[in-house]
Amino acid sequence: MNTDRTDQWEHRNWHVPVMADKITQLLIRPSTHIVVDCTVGTGGHSLAILEAAGKQTILVGIDMDENALAIARERLKPLGRRVILKRGNYGKITELLKDYLGRVDSLLIDCGISRLQITNSDRGFSFDHEGPLDMRFDNAASMTAEKLLKGISFEELRSLLSHFGEPRASSIAKAILERRDSGKLSTTLDLAGAVKAVVKRKQAKSLARVFLAIRACVNNELENLKSALESLKNVLGKGGRACVITYHSAEDTIVKQAFRKYSGKCICPPGSITCRCGRIGIFRQLTRKPLVPSADEIRGNPSARSAKIRVVEKM
Ligand SMILES: C[S@@+](CC[C@H](N)C(=O)[O-])C[C@H]1O[C@@H](n2cnc3c(N)ncnc32)[C@H](O)[C@@H]1O
Repeated sequence: MNTDRTDQWEHRNWHVPVMADKITQLLIRPSTHIVVDCTVGTGGHSLAILEAAGKQTILVGIDMDENALAIARERLKPLGRRVILKRGNYGKITELLKDYLGRVDSLLIDCGISRLQITNSDRGFSFDHEGPLDMRFDNAASMTAEKLLKGISFEELRSLLSHFGEPRASSIAKAILERRDSGKLSTTLDLAGAVKAVVKRKQAKSLARVFLAIRACVNNELENLKSALESLKNVLGKGGRACVITYHSAEDTIVKQAFRKYSGKCICPPGSITCRCGRIGIFRQLTRKPLVPSADEIRGNPSARSAKIRVVEKM
């Protein structure tokens, strides 16, 4: 029996990897040698991938969050030199993977937040528990939710909430800024209170969208995703595959558009030396429609409910 309380706490809060079987089927082939997990988290997908792959496969795991990396390091220790972990931002994937450019066989981006982060109220991600207005994935980053909310204008906040699908963006933005201006916005529960003051129906959905929008802005999530997708063509080798798991439409739209852009047929005039039409066929889409979790998986892991997987292969 494990009597280590810290260890038990960590186990309960390890992230449950979403659609792990599908991910391993898509990413592991007999020839797979180098796999990159851009969002290693507490190591669930990485472990599943390495267990499914042959002993020749190595995995480079990246995350911005040092707490997550510490757990992944312990958990993946039995795999020894097959695992290389790096702390960094996948938005700068070309720099992080400079030793592997053009050689990566499989790459995974599992967007968003992990259970480890959401369940630790000190990180400020949860609207159910009191915590600081922090919301950073990388605790060395300078931007926090507090700083963001301190400097944001009504129009900027309204437009941010609206971009993340919040229909009551105007009234919520007004309520948050009124609280801020009266000096009563210092914790996650203060922020949640501002939302609850104006939203009476489907409160949980609005709370989730407001916290998501602010978190995404603090961590520059959509921009990082765009940069990583732009760099895929330099990172993957021929036949290499990239899988992206998204959890909301702002992310999925970015992935859909990037994959479509690079999977189009070149329409430059015959004989052109370089492609100028911007529709270069660099990738083949393996998923015309995104893959989604089964009802069984969603029952066991409700956080998977909005997940979508899109996959491309470099030609
Ligand atoms: C959904 S979790 C990944 C969970 C992981 N697949 C597992 O099985 O445990 C997303 C992770 O990505 C990390 N992350 C988010 N944006 C990042 C970025 N731009 N660069 C590196 N890591 C990032 C977060 O810190 C978080 O640990």
